[in-house]
Amino acid sequence: MTDRLRDKVALVVGAGSVGEGLGNGKAAAMLFAREGAKIFAVDVDSDAAAETKAIIECEGGICATHQADATSAASVAAMVAACLARFERIDILHNNVGGSVPGGPVDMGEEAWDANIDLNLKTVFLSCKFVIPVMERQGGGAIVNISSVAGLRSMGGRAMVAYQASKAGLIQFSRAVAIQYAKAGIRSNCVVPGLMNTPLVAHRIVGQYGGGKLAETIAQRDAMCPTGKMGDAWDVAYAALYLASDEAKYVTATEILVDGGLTAKCD
Ligand SMILES: NC(=O)c1ccc[n+]([C@@H]2O[C@H](COP(=O)([O-])OP(=O)(O)OC[C@H]3O[C@@H](n4cnc5c(N)ncnc54)[C@H](O)[C@@H]3O)[C@@H](O)[C@H]2O)c1
Repeated sequence: MTDRLRDKVALVVGAGSVGEGLGNGKAAAMLFAREGAKIFAVDVDSDAAAETKAIIECEGGICATHQADATSAASVAAMVAACLARFERIDILHNNVGGSVPGGPVDMGEEAWDANIDLNLKTVFLSCKFVIPVMERQGGGAIVNISSVAGLRSMGGRAMVAYQASKAGLIQFSRAVAIQYAKAGIRSNCVVPGLMNTPLVAHRIVGQYGGGKLAETIAQRDAMCPTGKMGDAWDVAYAALYLASDEAKYVTATEILVDGGLTAKCD
């Protein structure tokens, strides 16, 4: 354990993982704890948050859990109150909740569109709504949002317009918040992951886009990457750690691409 986040409290929203193994939010919570932060691990799935807590405590870290639906204002307000009741401050807000659904504007239903925009964008709007006043009172804080290369590029011939639009919107939301609150000492940045081999590949992506064939889906995703391999949750977590830490004290309103060069490739 080192101390890049010593004495900081990190509110990690979406700190569990949808399946066995390490998702981006779980890895970030673990890494933040290893670097000395106290973790308030929030998830809609309390078992998933409990698993993150168990790992962190097993490694000697500090973690409390809270069940919340990040798409609900009342639930997010209660989440922030519970974090303050437990740890008295919030230095880092890590917004990891998100996911894609397939479809273009013609074939996607209105409800699916609304739900996906809520999942990827409203969740961050709501957490910022309730956490920024806390950070203002404290004199600063760091917000780290998890976007996606799908917010920058179309890849693999797949339509997922709600995901693409919401992850693009998240980048500009994050920048706008950064500018509005720069003088308050609040930084806001995005990590923009490329194709990552996290549990959601087996849990959801293989069914949505891969015809149910996991090995083929992984091989296809690997082949799309310039390195020949997808990244993993640690790659995202280490970028988030930098943005969350005081090492990034002059870094705001920007993005770190963690994509193995995917976005720079045009074939
Ligand atoms: N894996 C990839 O290839 C990839 C690529 C680019 C971006 N991303 C982004 O990474 C993030 C997710 O990564 P992950 O690997 O941690 O995914 P994950 O789905 O394993 O973890 C997300 C967690 O959020 C929780 N959650 C879902 N809805 C919630 C809600 N309404 N309120 C509270 N919690 C909720 C889930 O229960 C889950 O534990 C998303 O924002 C996703 O868009 C992933």
